[in-house]
Amino acid sequence: MAALARVLVLSGPNLNLLGVREPEVYGRTTLADIEADLVRRAQARGASLDCQQHNGEGAMVDAIQAARGTADGILINPGAYTHYSIAIRDALAAVDLPAVEVHLSHIFTREAFRHESVTAPACRGIIAGFGARSYALGLEALLDLIGETAGY
Ligand code: DQA
Repeated sequence: MAALARVLVLSGPNLNLLGVREPEVYGRTTLADIEADLVRRAQARGASLDCQQHNGEGAMVDAIQAARGTADGILINPGAYTHYSIAIRDALAAVDLPAVEVHLSHIFTREAFRHESVTAPACRGIIAGFGARSYALGLEALLDLIGETAGY
């Protein structure tokens, strides 16, 4: 068993544009700012992070598969793939690691096509609607889950 909890933080398409992308919906915090905050939180809890962002579905599937054996849990914002990627859902189910899904926006109050998450059922839970803070809350919850199962 690894001494440190290791978490893959995986952000999907267009999240590289956070800060400039529809700031009235997603806020002005950049992905780099979010990831720096997560790294600080992880360090405070003795965990290590691997932060990745991919625009392509296949790259996200590859990253999830690679987490098998290299990570203890996955914090994921699948972006638009949330709403239709069975491939990402299946990858999450296949690796059998605890995963927490996060969204900056409150997807259930937005357009109807955002109301369904096909990836969430492969996750332990979902946090949505708290802006950049959704990532922080998701990480704290995931580290709790990992700690409960591994006894870190
Ligand atoms: C999002 C919500 C999705 O509907 C959207 O396609 C995104 C971002 C969020 O974090 O609020 O790209 O995942």
